[in-house]
Amino acid sequence: MSYYKIHDLENYFKMYKKSVREPRKFWDRIADENFVWYQKWDKVFEVDMQEANFKWFLNAKVNISKNCIDRHLAKRGTKTAIIFEPNDPSEQALHISYNELYERVSKMANVLRDQGIQKGDRVCIYLPMIPELAVAILACARIGAIHSVVFAGFSSTAVSARINDSECKMVITSDGSYRGNKTIDLKVIVDEALEKSPCVEKVLVVKRTNTPVTMKEGRDIWLQPLLDEAMGTSVAEIMDAEDPLFILYTSGSTGKPKGMLHTTAGYMVYTAYTFKNVFNYEENDVFWCTADIGWITGHSYILYGPLLNGATTVIFEGVPSYPDFSRFWEVIQKHQITQFYTAPTAIRALAKESLDYVQKFTLNSLKVIGSVGEPINEEAWHWYNDHVGGKRCPLVDTWWQTETGAIMISPIPFVTPTKPTYASLPLPGIQPVLMDELRNEIEGNQVNGSLCIKFPWPSMARTIWGDHQRYKETYFTAFPGKYFTGDGALRDEVGYYRITGRVDDVVIVSGHNLGTAPIEDAINEHPAVAESAIVGFPHDIKGNALYAFIILKESGEGRDKTNLSKEINEMISNQIGPIAKLDKIQFVSGLPKTRSGKIMRRILRKIAEGDFSNFGDTSTLLNPEIVEEIKEGKL
Ligand code: WT7
Repeated sequence: MSYYKIHDLENYFKMYKKSVREPRKFWDRIADENFVWYQKWDKVFEVDMQEANFKWFLNAKVNISKNCIDRHLAKRGTKTAIIFEPNDPSEQALHISYNELYERVSKMANVLRDQGIQKGDRVCIYLPMIPELAVAILACARIGAIHSVVFAGFSSTAVSARINDSECKMVITSDGSYRGNKTIDLKVIVDEALEKSPCVEKVLVVKRTNTPVTMKEGRDIWLQPLLDEAMGTSVAEIMDAEDPLFILYTSGSTGKPKGMLHTTAGYMVYTAYTFKNVFNYEENDVFWCTADIGWITGHSYILYGPLLNGATTVIFEGVPSYPDFSRFWEVIQKHQITQFYTAPTAIRALAKESLDYVQKFTLNSLKVIGSVGEPINEEAWHWYNDHVGGKRCPLVDTWWQTETGAIMISPIPFVTPTKPTYASLPLPGIQPVLMDELRNEIEGNQVNGSLCIKFPWPSMARTIWGDHQRYKETYFTAFPGKYFTGDGALRDEVGYYRITGRVDDVVIVSGHNLGTAPIEDAINEHPAVAESAIVGFPHDIKGNALYAFIILKESGEGRDKTNLSKEINEMISNQIGPIAKLDKIQFVSGLPKTRSGKIMRRILRKIAEGDFSNFGDTSTLLNPEIVEEIKEGKL
């Protein structure tokens, strides 16, 4: 019997044990039986949790785009690979077959090569959710270029910082993007970004909104005419298992964004395996993940996971509220979606609206529904389970991270009984542990602690681009020999995990991972601001929202606070993007600090939440009196 598909609970436990006792044998067999390789590996893995060095499928040769496309052509050439559902429901949806995808990706690959892109070069992709985004990614993978997709909601400063960090030679973008009833001028943002990014030699521009743009001579080229001229076949580059596949930036609790580097074979094997099992994927399913491809969720479960399994996957350009709040449900019915994967923040927003929106549509094509990005609260879980899943579809609450590459802890539908708000059990190969403050592993059940993973898995990020030391320090030193996730979790009486949220200075807002440091940096750049501290506080729809405590310079004290708040939010919008805007601003005269000068966020978090009951030990503060003042300022 194949190891690829988990059949029932007994089989899950059997597979899980095998993956822990004989990880080499387990992954060897899965990699061997489900992919096409130019050359197999000499060794399944070579890992060092101290130095944070990880290699999987050593010396194997492979190309992931071949595994996503070419190998399906004989059996599934005319099958739909991608359904493109445009922002405007009156625009026709597009069905792209595997044959057509092969042709499009080949043309794109040939264009990239013609434009001087070679194996190992970094290409920044800043595109809306249109087919060209998928095609550009797969074309990079095909020729061995490293793609660095930047979410098309990020500002020019954020784009430029990401381009410079990995020294991208090329940017692929579009004239503009549609989002609901708005049009965003993406090319203008790129132009601004490139003023500070001299490493970029070429910009390829997709036409989407027909917004007028300026094209810089010698640098900017319209993509379509190049594609029209290009050949529709192409040879895939032979890649080493550990050759970089992509960089994806994620926020840290301190400093600049971290360019998480994922490599080829391990990412391929584990992403495909988790897609198959966590979504109970079967041949004629139509899978829809509503994330943006600019996030890891989109990389792994809009593109790579589904295509590696020869699935039909949906690329949705729009938003859940346009033209009205029934858009998701309408699309599910229209395309007869079998698996629907979205975020708690979307569920909460839609659950606030009239039930008529969802009840107008027949959702009985659905088989599995999923959640990702942040803890899903009990109320949202039940609404989703009852009204979307019809109490009939297992709800998979999937816990994972940009760093983990793919899903780590999740129920397996029709196998693992679900429990509201619990991500439940680790997938085969994943060994979670809970750690106490003394860095000891907490044994037994009904306990909580810091969530670590004590054994490597194939799709883990290999490093932070250009900064291995930071990678090691961020993830492998807090609990030596273990990967520290940054999350807290509890384990119930049967061993199910529930993720309780971040234990570091990262705040998850609407499922977006926001480091507090870059936002504080942006605020501090305002000429009237002396210092600031950001914390998250609970928000009905977003899960968390941002609360800023800001100290003004003397020169700023007389200023109108409403105007000032507006200016500060504009700065954040420009520096990072609208997703990082503040919900609440409190101007204060000081911040609670430890004697070593570290801001005591724990206290600020409590104040932001409106919980004045127990601030814990404040005796170590440099300035304990400030706590009272901030409290009063809030009242
Ligand atoms: C952080 C990672 C991985 C996909 C999108 C986010 C939180 C993610 C869950 C979940 C509770 C979750 C964690 C994690 N998170 N999924 N099912 N339950 N929390 O990727 O931007 O790298 O963020 O998202 O806090 O550490 P990311």
